[in-house]
Amino acid sequence: MHAISVRKMSFPAAAQLLIHGLVLYNLVITREKKMRAFEQFPGPPGNWLFGHLRQDGTDFSIITKWGEQYPYAFPLQFGPTSIYLTIHHSSYLKTVLASAGDNIAYTFLTSWIGEGLLVSAGQKWFRHRRLLTPGFHYDILKPYVKLMADSANIMLDKWETYAKTEQSFELFQQVSLMTLDSIMKCAFSYNSNCQTESGTNPYIKAVFELCYLVHLRWRWFPYPSETIFHLSPHGYRYRKACKIAHSHTEEVIRKRKEALSKEKEQDILLKRRNLDFLDILLCTQDEQQQGLSDEAIRAEVDTFMFEGHDTTASGISWILYNMACYPEHQQKCREEIQEALKGKDSMEWEDLSKIPYTTMCIKESLRLYLPVPGLARKFCHGYVFDPLRFLPENTAKRPPHAFVPFSAGPRNCIGQNFAMNEIKVVVAMTLKKYVLIKDPEHTPKMVPQIILRSLNGIYIKIRFSLMDLLPSSG
Ligand code: HEM
Repeated sequence: MHAISVRKMSFPAAAQLLIHGLVLYNLVITREKKMRAFEQFPGPPGNWLFGHLRQDGTDFSIITKWGEQYPYAFPLQFGPTSIYLTIHHSSYLKTVLASAGDNIAYTFLTSWIGEGLLVSAGQKWFRHRRLLTPGFHYDILKPYVKLMADSANIMLDKWETYAKTEQSFELFQQVSLMTLDSIMKCAFSYNSNCQTESGTNPYIKAVFELCYLVHLRWRWFPYPSETIFHLSPHGYRYRKACKIAHSHTEEVIRKRKEALSKEKEQDILLKRRNLDFLDILLCTQDEQQQGLSDEAIRAEVDTFMFEGHDTTASGISWILYNMACYPEHQQKCREEIQEALKGKDSMEWEDLSKIPYTTMCIKESLRLYLPVPGLARKFCHGYVFDPLRFLPENTAKRPPHAFVPFSAGPRNCIGQNFAMNEIKVVVAMTLKKYVLIKDPEHTPKMVPQIILRSLNGIYIKIRFSLMDLLPSSG
């Protein structure tokens, strides 16, 4: 019966059937190949078509539990053919991170952040990394501390309303605006007023949307296909959000180019302000006197605008939440900060090394709430918040790759010192001014969307700290 109906088919229908057959065959072969590559690693059973994951990312705690069940590594299936090895053990991590290989998981980011440092590979990555590393030199980072403190103070002033009423409020959105303000001021010398403008910031909204959609592409089986995603309503939303994100970064580049072209000599302009990351992008040259192309500059601005604010927004939001959950650690940090700042309303480079207990709390929060959650970690005594595990004598007992929130090896985070400085500044300024209180009505649900976010927001309450009412010496 079946053979007869195929014979009666028109040519286009038969061709279509053949194509579908080939696609299915290809799927089965690719899947088999990948399954065979990982057969040494037992893992949780998954659905043939949809794999292990839920579309909305609410399975983060389940994945963490699998990490305990399969302590070295286990295969995680995102669809019929997207199968990745999730690595937990520090010795495995060491081997993987030693290579400068590209990260296939970032392919879906290319139409947004281009082939910037995060996405590029091979010689291109190597050249860019070498050209951009001076942008994170100590001399460049030093004046940023004061700018970070200024951005933090704008946010903390806005919070006075919440302190007066002790009403619960959502942190992540506010902290994102502050970190965007900060990266714009530091890396691009751009005063955006994004914290004081009314309404939601279109760039921040677009970044949330883009992270959600890229995450969905990873997780939902038909979406890895460029054509299917392009034709879908989600693909339409993605292109719209990309346009908004690009117009934001294009304006930053355009204004700087205009400013540079108005100056007879660039030196005159640079003498008037700190050398920033954008100056380095625009002026850098390799041994052959070759600078970066316009396209490459755009990609790096898109990469650093995103990586430079959303990761730190996550890190800061979760440490502030942890401080609210652990008042005893919060108080110890506050006493240390008071001693270090001696009542000053700002923070300087020299103050960063005066808050070791606060730094240990930040590291503990980064361990438990990894802002870039694609990177696995393993650590004994998992879920207890214990900053003392970062005392130098305890750190010395662990393998070096047991704690790598900024990754390690050649492709480690180029912005890690920038990030740690910013988190320290914001935590210190916040705890100096406010006492953070847990809101028992709101428990955040962690969700990995490139960056670690919370599905239902991160809520806390605050009141004025008595310390802030003491007379200021500065
Ligand atoms: C708490 C904050 C941050 C965390 C936890 C973090 C974490 C990471 C991690 C884990 C990687 C490696 C990703 C991979 O290979 O898959 C990475 C790479 C990168 N990060 Fe960060 N990051 C943070 C802040 C920043 C900041 C503030 C900037 C820029 C100002 C930045 C720029 C980058 C770039 C450009 C890369 C790619 C580096 C390369 O491949 O050469 N990051 N980051």
